[in-house]
Amino acid sequence: MLLKALENIESGKFKKKDIVDLLIQDDPSELYRNADRIRKKFVGDEVHLREIIEISNYCKQHCLYCGLQAQNTKLKRYRMKPEEVMERIRWSVPLGYKTVVLQSGEDNAWTDDIVCGMVRDIRKMDFAVTLSFGEKSYETYKKYREAGADRYLLKHETSDTELYKFLDPGMSFKNRIGCQNDLKELGFQVGSGIMIGLPGQAVDSIADDIMLFHKMDYDMIGISPFIPHKDTEIGNNSSGDHELVRKAVAITRIILKDVHLPVTTAFSTLRDREGKLQMLASGANVIMPNITPVEYRKMYEIYPDKDSSDVEPFEYRKQLTELLTEAGRTISTSYGHRIKIKADI
Ligand code: 5AD
Repeated sequence: MLLKALENIESGKFKKKDIVDLLIQDDPSELYRNADRIRKKFVGDEVHLREIIEISNYCKQHCLYCGLQAQNTKLKRYRMKPEEVMERIRWSVPLGYKTVVLQSGEDNAWTDDIVCGMVRDIRKMDFAVTLSFGEKSYETYKKYREAGADRYLLKHETSDTELYKFLDPGMSFKNRIGCQNDLKELGFQVGSGIMIGLPGQAVDSIADDIMLFHKMDYDMIGISPFIPHKDTEIGNNSSGDHELVRKAVAITRIILKDVHLPVTTAFSTLRDREGKLQMLASGANVIMPNITPVEYRKMYEIYPDKDSSDVEPFEYRKQLTELLTEAGRTISTSYGHRIKIKADI
């Protein structure tokens, strides 16, 4: 029966039930093997490394799962100066990464002019640019795009609209998708994603998330386990099941074929090195090394014990090369844009 479900998701003629069955199965080894085969066929052995710099932990939102939520008064806040951000990125050039991801809490101090100035300067250093600043107006996104930003990360977190409303007070799922549609229209490559293991989240709703990935045809999808943060309202819940995360990644690879799938940092946090190898062997093809200056890293505490938060970026780069060699993979030297391949099925 599961072989049929596997066949269905590969051929594109699948129903939500096929996804549910694959998510709840006890022995996913065949699923992982298939995901690895599809990954190799459509995106090859290259792994794209995208450096991420977390430029401010101020946030005006109140997401119940996130340590950066505005109401967390225990967190010491920081905001890098634009020159400081540029200096750090210039410093990172010898690492050889080809994409810079600028990420911040939803912080109004980053005016359109400041962000666009940074985007232009980063492009001059021959990087592709990804932005992750949360929900903005169409006009703001348009300015970012005109300044040269290539991609935008805005995860939909969960497609269960009631759960979304509960977890993200004052925000809505509808608005989130609206922002993603604006970004698509403007020609951004759009990254979405979800957390797995949120309180009240059913397997059925994870299947809905994967159906949505397919419908929206996102360019990149980050699937993370939820990790409780003690200073949040849902900090006493348990972490997401890493096997379920891995299954969701594998199914997503088989359905979306040429999509970019990162080894999410939250997954590595739970499983470290072994976790990265597992994810790379079941569909993933992107890793996002953190280059945030050490003095700020601990303060960007979305969830506790973030992966490798104490490893210096040049040392991390060395460790990654070893890990990828061990996994039989190569490091991409291109910008790593999504290349849409028409499925020959
Ligand atoms: N556990 C895992 N991921 C989280 N994020 C926020 N809080 C948590 C948490 N507690 C993720 C969300 C968000 C991204 C910046 O971090 O998916 O989009």
